[in-house]
Amino acid sequence: MDRIRITGGVPLEGDIPISGAKNAALPLMTASLLTDGPLQLSNLPHLMDISTLVNLLTSLGVDITMEGDADDDGHTGRVLTLTCGDLSGTTAPYDLVRKMRASILVLGPLLARAGTARVSLPGGCAIGTRPVDLHLAGLAELGAEIELTDGYIEARAPRGLKGSVIRFPRVSVGATENLLMAASLAEGETVLENAAREPEVGDLANCLTAMGAEIDGIGTDRLVVTGVPRLAGTRYRVMPDRVETGTFAVAAAITGGDLTLRHADADGVSAVAEVMARAGVAVKQKAEGLRVRRNGAGISAVDVTTQPYPGFPTDMQAQVMALMAFSDGAAMITETIFENRFMHVPELARMGADITVSGSSAMVRGVSELKGAPVMATDLRASVSLVLAGLAATGDTLVNRVYHLDRGYERLVQKLAACGARIERISDRGESVRDG
Ligand code: UD1
Repeated sequence: MDRIRITGGVPLEGDIPISGAKNAALPLMTASLLTDGPLQLSNLPHLMDISTLVNLLTSLGVDITMEGDADDDGHTGRVLTLTCGDLSGTTAPYDLVRKMRASILVLGPLLARAGTARVSLPGGCAIGTRPVDLHLAGLAELGAEIELTDGYIEARAPRGLKGSVIRFPRVSVGATENLLMAASLAEGETVLENAAREPEVGDLANCLTAMGAEIDGIGTDRLVVTGVPRLAGTRYRVMPDRVETGTFAVAAAITGGDLTLRHADADGVSAVAEVMARAGVAVKQKAEGLRVRRNGAGISAVDVTTQPYPGFPTDMQAQVMALMAFSDGAAMITETIFENRFMHVPELARMGADITVSGSSAMVRGVSELKGAPVMATDLRASVSLVLAGLAATGDTLVNRVYHLDRGYERLVQKLAACGARIERISDRGESVRDG
């Protein structure tokens, strides 16, 4: 298994191109199941999770072609054309779903298009139990008959789906996306209340609109969908990744560097930018992207509580904790979205961080120095927080289980190395390897 070795202490300087958003690309890809026309998606990141979904969609009968492209910066993004002429199946098997929870996003589209779907229940997940009850209750509200058998969700809508009013008892990004797609082909009007407002939901809604769906309230927590009999293919560009943007913003801050994050959109990262500003980091929107720098000044401690958008994102909690580990005070970090999302804490502590967890809160007392160590984490964002800590620590940090990073960060090692980081990926045989 590959590892990443980092020798910390270099302030990062330069430009980093921000890739297309994984969490927007995945639901957009599943929207191809809703139409027999070609859906062409550009600016797709090259990531393991995308490949996993390509495999799942292919197994359902979606014909997929992939090309690379490059814009003026030489920034490569993939162009994927997905055409689902006829479905060849309606089952998402355990083997594929267990690799990626977002596979559940085929449920709504399959049900709407074919009137039947069989999707494996996602397995246990390292960041809490993460049930799918909101997805199922919403689809049942649209008239689907749902049974759970042998670890599979069996859903049927023999007479089609019918619009209804669905009020989510809690905000769920995935359930909002599944219902948005299903409702687009349902009969009549569907109202989604307490819907997730994450920009990735907006990206999906805009693409569905371009495919012929009728959706009002995009960007708000009340989406009104008027079902249409059919949707058409379209071309759509995936939004920039706001978690990748935030992660590299922390890389600039934690190393006392100066980075310009190309293609980054300040609007989507305002909660992170606000925390940065309060910590003493300058964040400025420029024509070419977002410039983030910390010149000499220390890092002020800032309390952070994760919330649904537009609040502070749970997907940035681990990274900001790494930053606060170097602050000149004490920061309380509270996680309200997922239980058990503090797996990075014991690893950061092994590097010398002073963190005490009590329930869903972590008290982070800043220290003047972290020391490099062999570390590993069991999820994507926790892993990248260890890379960030390693960039600012003294000595060598060896991050194990790099496959978590491959799921969500495109060319992470290359992007950081291009800005001066002493970082390399090494194979289990100890050889330096290129970061795909
Ligand atoms: C998406 C993101 C993930 C991010 C999360 C929260 C993708 C592919 N993933 O995940 O990176 O961390 O949003 O911003 O976009 N819940 C239920 N029942 C359900 C569904 C969810 O109780 O049926 C709970 C979850 O356990 C969690 C909370 O609701 O505690 C939010 O989850 P949700 O917004 O659904 O996350 P995902 O869509 O899985």
